[in-house]
Amino acid sequence: MRYRRMPIEAESPEEYGYDRISCNLAESSIADASLGLLGTDLGDLVLQYGDHRGIPELRAEIAADGPGLTAADVLVTAGAAGALFTIATTLLEAGDHLVVVRPNYATNIETPRAIGAEIAYVDLRFEDGWRIDPERIADAITDRTRLVSITVPHNPTGRGMPEAALRAIVADCEARGVRLLVDETYREMTYAGPLPLAAILSDRAISVSSLSKTYGMPGIRVGWIVSRDARLVDRLLAAKEQIGITGSVVDETIALRARRARHAWLPGIMGGIAESLALVRAWVAAEELIEWVEPDGGVVCFPRIRPDLSIDLPTFYATLRDEHATIVGPGHWFEQPDSYMRVGYGWPTRERLIEGLGNVSEAIRQSLR
Ligand SMILES: Cc1ncc(COP(=O)(O)O)c(C=O)c1O
Repeated sequence: MRYRRMPIEAESPEEYGYDRISCNLAESSIADASLGLLGTDLGDLVLQYGDHRGIPELRAEIAADGPGLTAADVLVTAGAAGALFTIATTLLEAGDHLVVVRPNYATNIETPRAIGAEIAYVDLRFEDGWRIDPERIADAITDRTRLVSITVPHNPTGRGMPEAALRAIVADCEARGVRLLVDETYREMTYAGPLPLAAILSDRAISVSSLSKTYGMPGIRVGWIVSRDARLVDRLLAAKEQIGITGSVVDETIALRARRARHAWLPGIMGGIAESLALVRAWVAAEELIEWVEPDGGVVCFPRIRPDLSIDLPTFYATLRDEHATIVGPGHWFEQPDSYMRVGYGWPTRERLIEGLGNVSEAIRQSLR
């Protein structure tokens, strides 16, 4: 494997230094939760190796998201990132053909690339409303395709897809004997209500998610894979055991308590997201230098500086960061031009979001040629 540090990680806020940032618009989750929220006393927890698949109660909780699923269909991983890595390295070898949408959360592309897979990209377009078109996916599948990889709701655009489109992609993959990976890390944050777990629609479909984004808990590294293909789950378990044997019992115990409490939190979380999105919507409406496709899920959007403007982009990002102590996710994190930027609106406070958006406007004007 030829690993390469991804810009989205090397340039992340935590690597740059949270204390150097005033307005952090580069996050893709809600604000980070604290352990106190759970009232968690872990004093009695025995620090043993845990169940290799993940604590059974936690897996049962996750399985409850999909009718017909059981704890045996769930494998707990080190975040959704760990899930994506485990799946890619289990299913792909050098030269294997993979279809993946782009832009995307970087790991969905970078791990197959590090493996040496042959990647067919389905490039999403601003002009199409960033739509993931089942027909374009079908056209990219060949006799050699082993895996199709999509992310819904999508990162960095925040766009979802109608259930009929998801079902069409699932049906096509099933008919052609291809596995489908659906990165559902933002699934619960779909404004019109979540799509079904892809894994309940077909044995060929694999669902991935975590507690990082909707619940603001990236600091416990807990994600999961759901699949009804027991032989595949065993192969994924073998990979997990080689990476770390088990997950952390501390992380999984906290995750279990969070999962049990989450229904009480979700309405408040979704209400907060709606308020933040309204602020971004108002900013875009008033800002003639920016255009966007409004998101319908998640906590990020991917606006662009109007293409007819002449902007010195390095100056824009340097001014935004150094003069305004504000950061966004530049387009190159997603292999797109830097005239696009990912704006995360779920993490900052209302005040910091308003200030940060204003700083983006000002930095664009300071960089006009
Ligand atoms: C679409 C998507 N998948 C997976 C991940 C990985 O998240 P984690 O490993 O924290 O669960 C992220 C993080 O940004 C993401 O946006």
